[in-house]
Amino acid sequence: MLNLVVAMIAFVFAISAALAADDMATLKKAQKIFGSLPKDMSTPDYPVTPERIELGRMLFFDPRLSIDANVSCATCHQPALYGSDALPKSMVSGSASWHAMRPRF
Ligand code: HEC
Repeated sequence: MLNLVVAMIAFVFAISAALAADDMATLKKAQKIFGSLPKDMSTPDYPVTPERIELGRMLFFDPRLSIDANVSCATCHQPALYGSDALPKSMVSGSASWHAMRPRF
């Protein structure tokens, strides 16, 4: 019986290691394809300034920009959830326009 338990535990560890190696291979492939994000989206014509950053922050979190004044960008793109809302499908809102019903990946 003990041999069976030890064999099962070894099997679980082997599977975990294989999956971790698979995840690392996928990560390396994605990094090769997409590269690193730039530090910011600044261009000579559109430099990133403290004023623009503050304006963007205000617009992103302001629900008054939506039709019913209830939804901001941050409602769905929550910074604490890496820009998602952790729902299987997007919320439906009169203000959400084109991407209201799009599936999540
Ligand atoms: C009702 C929910 C919701 C609201 C509100 C919302 N988004 Fe989105 N957004 C989504 C969904 C869902 C997607 C699609 C994600 C996907 O396809 O992977 C998306 C995609 C995006 C994308 C990626 C588009 C692309 O082509 O890859 C950007 C950028 C974006 N949203 C910015 C914003 C901004 C800026 C606002 C506010 C003005 C906003 N979103 C408000 C749900 C929302």
